[in-house]
Amino acid sequence: MSDTDPELEARLAEADEFEPPEAFVEQANVVDPELYETFEENWPDCWERAAALLDWTEPYDEVLDDSNPPFYEWFTGGSLNASANCLDRHLEARGDEPAIEWVGEPTDEANRTYTYNDLHRRVNEFAAGLRELGVGEDDVVTMYMPMIPELPIAMLACARIGAPHSVVFAGFSADALATRMAAADSEYLVTADGYYRRGDPLDHFAKATEGLAEVPHETTTVVVDRLRERDGFGHDLGAGQYDWETLLTDHAGETVEPVARDAEDMLFLMYTSGTTGEPKGVKHTTGGYLSWVSWTAQAVLDVKPEDTYFCSADIGWITGHSYIVYGPLALGTTSVMYEGTPDYPDRDRLWEIVEDVEATQLYTAPTAIRAFMKWGTEYPDRHDLSSLRLLGTVGEPINPRAWKWYYTHVGDESCPVVDTWWQTETGGTMLTTLPGIGAMKPGAAGPPLPGVDAQVVDAEGEPVDAGEAGYLTLQKPWPGMLRTLYRNDERFVEEYWATYSDTDSDDPDDWVYFPEDGAKVDGDGYVTVLGRVDDVINVSGHRLGTMEIESAIVGVEGVAEAAVVGGAHDVKGEAVYAYVITEDGQTESEAFREEIVAAVEDAIGPIARPERVVFTPELPKTRSGKIMRRLLEDVANDAELGDTSTLRNPDVVEDIRDAVRGDDD
Ligand code: PRX
Repeated sequence: MSDTDPELEARLAEADEFEPPEAFVEQANVVDPELYETFEENWPDCWERAAALLDWTEPYDEVLDDSNPPFYEWFTGGSLNASANCLDRHLEARGDEPAIEWVGEPTDEANRTYTYNDLHRRVNEFAAGLRELGVGEDDVVTMYMPMIPELPIAMLACARIGAPHSVVFAGFSADALATRMAAADSEYLVTADGYYRRGDPLDHFAKATEGLAEVPHETTTVVVDRLRERDGFGHDLGAGQYDWETLLTDHAGETVEPVARDAEDMLFLMYTSGTTGEPKGVKHTTGGYLSWVSWTAQAVLDVKPEDTYFCSADIGWITGHSYIVYGPLALGTTSVMYEGTPDYPDRDRLWEIVEDVEATQLYTAPTAIRAFMKWGTEYPDRHDLSSLRLLGTVGEPINPRAWKWYYTHVGDESCPVVDTWWQTETGGTMLTTLPGIGAMKPGAAGPPLPGVDAQVVDAEGEPVDAGEAGYLTLQKPWPGMLRTLYRNDERFVEEYWATYSDTDSDDPDDWVYFPEDGAKVDGDGYVTVLGRVDDVINVSGHRLGTMEIESAIVGVEGVAEAAVVGGAHDVKGEAVYAYVITEDGQTESEAFREEIVAAVEDAIGPIARPERVVFTPELPKTRSGKIMRRLLEDVANDAELGDTSTLRNPDVVEDIRDAVRGDDD
C-alpha cells in the first residue's frame, strides 16, 4: 500500500466514519452497547465494575462520598495495595509470563524480559532497600530516570510500602528536578548514571547532581548504573548516595509484605504545567486511580492478559504511568517498554519492535504519527505488522489525514483506532469510542465513556448547539480524578472548579470540572477537542506552561520582557514562539538569541526549546496592560490578525509580523 495509491486516497478522503472491524468486535472485551445506558442509570454504583477488577484487602463501604464537593472520595473504607494488584495476584497463573518486555538502546544489547516472578522479586528487594534507607509510609520518593526497567520497579516498590512517588521526566532540567523535589519536600531520589539517545551515552547523573545541589534539604539518592563500564562517565557516589545493584544484592530474596493502603491514600504525585510558573502537584489515589486505569485499559485498549501491549510514551508523563505501568500490569498483561526514539537506528524502529515482540496494541501520540507520515510508508511496509489488533492515540488532537494514515498504513484497515482524550488530572481516558461498539470519526475523540458526563458549554456554562465551539466540562466526578493539588486545595478549586461551579454550595450538582480545553460536539455526541484555552501549549504531546518559559527568558540578563505563545507546527502540533523585548544597549544578535534558547533548556529542558525567538520593540497590549497573546498566536501562525481595536499600540502587531516574516526570508 503506498501513499500515492489514488483510489485508496480518494476513498479514505471521503470517508468520515469507520465501523469497528468485525474480527475485532468478535473478540473485544466490551461489546454491549447498552453499557452507556446501564452506567447512567446506575451511577455512581456503575463504578463497582471498575473496582471489581482489583483485589481489595478490605472491601469498601461506599462507592462515592460526595458530601464535600469538590473533594470527592471514592471506594471509602476500602483498602488495597497497588503493587500487590500489579504483581502478587498474577504470580500463580502468570508468574513465568513476561510482565515487562524491555527494548533498550544500543540496539546490539540484549533486550530484557521480566516475568511477573522476576518483577515481583526485584520490586520486593528494592522495597526492602528503600525501607533500609529510611523511607516510610507517605514519604514522597522522587524518580528522575530514563526509560529503563528500574523505573517501574522503583514505582511499584514505593507503592508496596505506601510511599508515594513523584516521577520527573528525564528530559527535564536540573532546575525542574530541584523545584519538584523542594515542592514535595521529597528527601529521596532514584536516578541513573545515564542513558542512550540515538546511540550516544548521555550523562544524566551530572544533571541530577546539579539539581540536588539546589534542593534546600538533605537527600538520599539511589543511582542505577545503566551505562556501566562500557560508556559510564566515571562518577563517584557521595555521602547519602547508594548504588542500586548493591542495594538489591544486600536484600536479595527478601520479601516485603504489601502495605494495605486506604483507597483514598495517595499513590503518586505528578507535577504538570499550569497557567502560572509554578508546576502543579496532581495527587492521585490508590483505589480510584487504579480502578480507573484498569477499567479503561480493559475497555478502551482492549488489554487481555495474553497480549503484548506496546505504549510508546515515556513513563515520565502520565500516559506512561497509567498505560505502561499501572493499567496493563493490574490486568496481568505483557507491557512493552522502549528506551529510545522512533528514528534510531532507522525510521522503522517502532515497526521493527512491533514485529519482533508481536505487539497486539500500539498506543502512541499524533506527533509521532505525523512524523511517520512524513517519513513515508516504506518504513512500516518493511515489517509484518499483522500482530496488531488495536491502535490508539493520545496527547493532542489528531488531524483526520494522520488518523487515516495510521488506520491504513499501520492498521491495514483492520484495527480500530481509539483517539483518547484525557489529562494528567483525569488519571485515565475520559472521551473516546469503545472500540468494540462505536463507529470512529477521524478527528473527533468520540463520545464520553459510559458513566462520564461531558458537556460542551458557553461562557455562562450553558450547553452549546451541535457543531458550535465552546468549553469542555465534566459535570460529574469519576474515580480516577485528581483529589487535589498537593498542599494547595485552594488552587485546586480555583483552577479546575471555580469557572463553572457555585463554590459556596455543598450540592455536587453545583460543581463542574473545567479541564481548560475548547471543544465542539456533533449531533451524535462525538466530541472534537480543539486544544487548550489557557496559557498551556502542547509541544509534541508535551504540556508546557508559557509562563514557565517566559520566566526563564526574563531571567536572562539583557531581556526586559517576553511573551511566549504556541504556533502551529506540522509535526510537533505546536511549537514555542518567544517574543522578546531587550533592554536598552543589549544587541539583538544571534548569540543573544542562543543565550535565550539555552536559558529555556536549562530551566525546563530541551522540549521547551523555542522554535523562534523574535526580537520586538513592543508587545501588543490592551489599555489595561495585558499582553494580547491571541494576536501573537495569529502572527506565529501567519494567520489573519484578530481584532486589534482594543490595543493601545495597534501598529506593533504589523511590525512584529514583518519581523517574523523577515526572519523567514
Ligand atoms: O489539551 C488536551 C490534550 O492534552 C492535554 C492534557 O495534557 P497532559 O496532562 O500532559 O496529558 C497528556 C496525556 C493524557 C489536554 O488538556 N489532549 C490529550 N489527549 C487529547 C488531547 N487533545 C485532543 N485529543 C486528544 N485525544
